[in-house]
Amino acid sequence: MRTIDWVDGAVEIIDQTVLPEEVRILRLHTVPALIAAIQSLAVRGAPALGVAGAFGVALAARVHADDPAALDAAVSRIETARPTAVNLARGVRRAAELLPEGPEAVLAEACRVRDEELAASAAMAKRGADLMAELCGERPRLLTHCNTGGLATVELGTALSVVREMHERGALAGVIASETRPLLQGARLTAWELGRWGIEHRVAVDSAGPFLMARGEVDAVILGADRICADGDVINKIGTYSHALGARRAGLPFVVVAPESTVDLGTPSGDVVEIEDRGSAEVTPWSEAANPAFDVTPHDLVTAIVTDRRVIRLDRGERP
Ligand code: MRU
Repeated sequence: MRTIDWVDGAVEIIDQTVLPEEVRILRLHTVPALIAAIQSLAVRGAPALGVAGAFGVALAARVHADDPAALDAAVSRIETARPTAVNLARGVRRAAELLPEGPEAVLAEACRVRDEELAASAAMAKRGADLMAELCGERPRLLTHCNTGGLATVELGTALSVVREMHERGALAGVIASETRPLLQGARLTAWELGRWGIEHRVAVDSAGPFLMARGEVDAVILGADRICADGDVINKIGTYSHALGARRAGLPFVVVAPESTVDLGTPSGDVVEIEDRGSAEVTPWSEAANPAFDVTPHDLVTAIVTDRRVIRLDRGERP
């Protein structure tokens, strides 16, 4: 099933907080319920957040049809529910532009956002698998971080759609899923999706990544993004930067896969992006903690960015 969809007047999501123990479907009828799902990471991943934002405006348009002030306030609460992935605010703004035309027009636009993400996943899979064949030769062993599968999009995924396509072509030896502290998107979600697809994989603690690369157990790194800046800087889950440094030191390709909806030419570089801090409780009960949810990988550490429309070879001086 789809990670997120509009079903009989409500937003349906797979609750990612309880995977892999349980596959639970949540029906979200109200804006506060949708915002709570976004903030708890019941729905997460940049493209899925874009779809959630657009569907959220569709919910708001129905509930607040006769109260423009309440509608505006609801739209802006959805837009700012999480700050870092550009897709959320983009999805919200796209749907909100249709508000003057009424709730049905808003819902139709939100469904277009969903459909474009579905098409983007399919396009990235093919283009990405072609590029990986060029960069890594036959049957590479890949390392990935966080979760970039169907759970982070609507179906299939970004980087993980490429991994799946390589597997289907018989062009993949196996995957190391970096566990992704503190919420374990790699250990819980990526491992679950790889298992369902029959792809050989192992989970490694995040700090093992660079060492496994140095020891020759990885041939390339492939992962997603929450925002790609105009200069090619990549904002992604905390831990991405360490893997990029490890890949550079080991001389390995470092490939980012993300739809055009994640490319933000309005953000010049990574140093101006707001990085969500999710507070101490997710990290440890024993101390105050620093908990940046994302980091910035400078563009000079990135080999290439694959989108649904193009391959940007940063290693050859190309820029988004
Ligand atoms: O905090 P999350 O789980 O929403 O973070 C998700 C990521 O960082 C993913 O790598 C990114 O959104 C790309 S997913 C296609």
